[in-house]
Amino acid sequence: MVASGLDIQGVHGVHFSACFWAAKPLKSTNLYKKRLLLFSGKGGVGKTTVSSAFALSCARRGEKTLLIELNVHDKVSSMFGAGRVGTEITEVEDNLWAVNITPEAALEEYAVMMLKVRIVYKAVFENRIMKSFLRAIPGLNELVMLGKAYYHVVEKENGKHVWDKIVVDAPATGHGLFLLKIPMVITSILSSGHMFEEAERIIEVLRDPEITALNLVTLAEEMPVNETIMLHNQTRDELKIPMGAVIANGVYEPLFSESEHEILNAAAKHVKEPSVLAMIDAANFRVMRTRLQAGYLKEIDREIPLPRHTLPFVFTPRMDFQSLLTLAEKLESEIEGGQS
Ligand SMILES: Nc1ncnc2c1ncn2[C@@H]1O[C@H](COP(=O)(O)OP(=O)(O)OP(=O)(O)O)[C@@H](O)[C@H]1O
Ligand SMILES: [Mg+2]
Repeated sequence: MVASGLDIQGVHGVHFSACFWAAKPLKSTNLYKKRLLLFSGKGGVGKTTVSSAFALSCARRGEKTLLIELNVHDKVSSMFGAGRVGTEITEVEDNLWAVNITPEAALEEYAVMMLKVRIVYKAVFENRIMKSFLRAIPGLNELVMLGKAYYHVVEKENGKHVWDKIVVDAPATGHGLFLLKIPMVITSILSSGHMFEEAERIIEVLRDPEITALNLVTLAEEMPVNETIMLHNQTRDELKIPMGAVIANGVYEPLFSESEHEILNAAAKHVKEPSVLAMIDAANFRVMRTRLQAGYLKEIDREIPLPRHTLPFVFTPRMDFQSLLTLAEKLESEIEGGQS
């Protein structure tokens, strides 16, 4: 069994009641009180699934919610059983809309807003030389995508915010940090102009604890946990963006208590039937796996001073709407449990 970097004694000494599963009793920010919720974490840990589940829970609570994917191969539509989510805002569920922001579409929208006329945009920006020039500006893609997300956060109609919640499925750790750092880099090298002002406005919203919370999605495994600790420390020290919670995703619910496991293994000594022995092996495997995860959950709690919410591994061939709803309901009860 792989348990490097962990206190083996600690891993195996864990009691398996619901104690390891339960969220850490830390008084935390209630994520439902924020308007801009960002989700990042290591590649493949479930960022898209968790942000979709969170957005679904907001929509079910009656909040008009916009789920933003950032320039990715759209995965959201298949979970909601909706049509493809592109660069136009699309309704995917009651109260829930989604959009996939690409730098090209965001830049076009921004430029048209500045230049007023689309035909001028086409003449200026779709020119081959101009396109190569734009591609060469580092961070421009990130700035326009963040700028579009920012626009939706502050967008108002009749004096009221258009969106109650903006949920951003942010890129994986490295690119996610780069994306969120861009406005700070811009304000450190420029001192005036459109880009500077835009970056300043974005920073103000990103760093406002009344509005924003960055959440860290992880699996209870060695590499994702290490990366989550790093992401947490860099966010705290460099980005200074308020953090919400750690979401430990894909955690196995414990099937046996410690005493049941002991009884099972004592009984196994008298079993000869191969099919029963195979079942006992499977049970032992599950117990080991749960113990290992419990160790990593403990490590998260020790290293990251944020509340932890835990989502189960859903046994399903495909993350369909029903499975997503299960996660949404679980997440809501975790967030609401013991929070202010
Ligand atoms: N709680 C869960 N139970 C079962 N399967 C899950 C769970 N969460 C995510 N998955 C599955 O894990 C895979 C990866 O999830 P997802 O696409 O959300 O990760 P991601 O972090 O967004 O990945 P990427 O870094 O590629 O964007 C998907 O097949 C998804 O259906
Ligand atoms: Mg994803």
